[in-house]
Order: sequence, then structure tokens, then C-alpha cells
Amino acid sequence: MINIDLNGKKGIVFGVANHRSIAWAISQKLLDAGADVTIAYQNERFKSGVEKLIDGYSNASLEECDVSSDDSITDLFSNLKDKYQNIDFLVHSIAFAPREDLAGDFSETSRESFNIALEISSFSLISLVNNATKLMKNGGSILALTFQASQSVYPGYNVMGVAKAALENEVKQLAAEYGSREIRVNALSPGPMDTLAARGIHGFIDMKKIHAEKAPLKRNITHDEVGNAALFLCSDLSTGITGTILPVDAGYHIMAV
Ligand SMILES: NC(=O)c1ccc[n+]([C@@H]2O[C@H](COP(=O)([O-])OP(=O)(O)OC[C@H]3O[C@@H](n4cnc5c(N)ncnc54)[C@H](O)[C@@H]3O)[C@@H](O)[C@H]2O)c1
Repeated sequence: MINIDLNGKKGIVFGVANHRSIAWAISQKLLDAGADVTIAYQNERFKSGVEKLIDGYSNASLEECDVSSDDSITDLFSNLKDKYQNIDFLVHSIAFAPREDLAGDFSETSRESFNIALEISSFSLISLVNNATKLMKNGGSILALTFQASQSVYPGYNVMGVAKAALENEVKQLAAEYGSREIRVNALSPGPMDTLAARGIHGFIDMKKIHAEKAPLKRNITHDEVGNAALFLCSDLSTGITGTILPVDAGYHIMAV
């Protein structure tokens, strides 16, 4: 039983597509800890599924937001301001690259795919943080989701490795910029997990198997474990931590071979 009390805290989680989404594992932990959570889904296609997920949570509500649109982001934060006035946390659990570029030779990445992947997966953090911090009057915690392909080559991850490298640098620059306001910016770097986004990565099943074999804990990580780490980083238990990329990968990142 984990005893973190987020009663009175309010915030927003981006990136719930379905029950397998890392963002949903995180949302559940935040909701169960008593926080008021707005869940932002990408578009109409996800609405009814996400509505079913939050059924029974009186502290959960929904907003639609497509991060490729400035208007959509502005509308969302305007609604959030009306609803909460002040927020304490933001979780960015969003990534996208055209499927054809998540396989084959990296050097074949097109200009268009590069721009889309970086815009949706990396630039969006800057834009969301810029808006969210206007509502963080008493400090706050911002959390992004990254992957070790930012540092090492994972065949098939291709342009998403570039997007994650950019995202991790953003985490550090934003942490430096907002630290004086007690706003912390960190990222979790989970090992491979079965989700909608992961299914688009060529060779994902093998990657997951290799992780489990090589990791010190000799297994893959669970949604629950990532949710718990996120809960810690969104709570006041982690007030001394900012600009950090925290691996939640059963220790895989320390292994050379
Ligand atoms: N699954 C893994 O193995 C793994 C490992 C490490 C990190 N991550 C990261 O975790 C995060 C969440 O991914 P996931 O694995 O839970 O998959 P997911 O498919 O459940 O989540 C990805 C989310 O991004 C959203 N999204 C895409 N384009 C968007 C747009 N234009 N506007 C708003 N939202 C948009 C989707 O709607 C979806 O909710 C991503 O950043 C991913 O890179 C995943």
C-alpha cells in the first residue's frame, strides 16, 4: 500500500489513448491518491474509450487537445484555468512518428516525417509547459516520458530516437528556466511496454524479450511500476529533484552487454 496523499492537488495528464497507455497507468495513481486530474485525449476517436476509463472517478474529467494545433492547446488551457484556476502537475505522455519511418534505414527518414515526429513528440513539451506554468502559481511538477533510444541505437526506433534526445534536452533547459519558481521538470525513461505506440515499432517484441533477459531484475517492468514512479515525481516527496531522467527499466540501462 503506497501512501501518497495528493488531496487538494490539481493537474493534467496528456496521452491517454486506451487502458494500456502509460498515461492511464499514471492517471490512475494520481486519481487514487486523491488529486483532481484532467485527462487530455487527442481527438474524438479516443473520446468514448477514455470516458469509460474514468467512469467512477469523481475527481477525473476530460478535455480534447491535439498538440499539433496552437488553437487546440490555447482552448484547453483556457478551459483548465476556468476549471482549476491553479494547477500543480502536468504529465506529457505523447509521441508520434509516421509508421513507415519506424522501420528500415534511418537515413531514409523524410523531411516531413522528421518534422512531424519532432513537432508532436518534442516541441509539444515546450508549448504545453509554456502554457501550464502560467497556471502554476505555487510551484509544480512537470513530467515527460522518454526512452533510452535517446542515447543508444535501437534498430527500428529511428527518428523517434532523435525526438527523445531533443525531449531530454528540453527537460533540462526547462528545469533550469523554471527552477526559481519551484517548478520541477523531469522525465521517466521506462523499458519497453505493450502499448498502442509501441506496436508501431518494428522489432518491438524482440526488444522487449532482450530487455527482460539482460536487465539486472531479469524481467520487464510493469505499468504499475511506471505509475508509482510518476506518482513520486508528481508529489512533494520529490521536491529536491529536477532536470532528471529517471530510468524505470529494471536496471537495463547499466548493462554494457
Ligand atoms: N511503450 C513503451 O515501450 C514506451 C517506453 C518508453 C517511453 N514511452 C513513451 O511513453 C509515452 C506514451 O506512449 P505509450 O507507450 O503509452 O503509447 P500510447 O499510444 O498509449 O500513447 C501515446 C499517446 O500520444 C498521443 N498523441 C499522439 N499524437 C498526438 C497529438 N497530435 N496530440 C495529442 N496527443 C497525441 C496519442 O493519442 C496517445 O494517447 C510516449 O512518449 C512514448 O514514447 C513508451
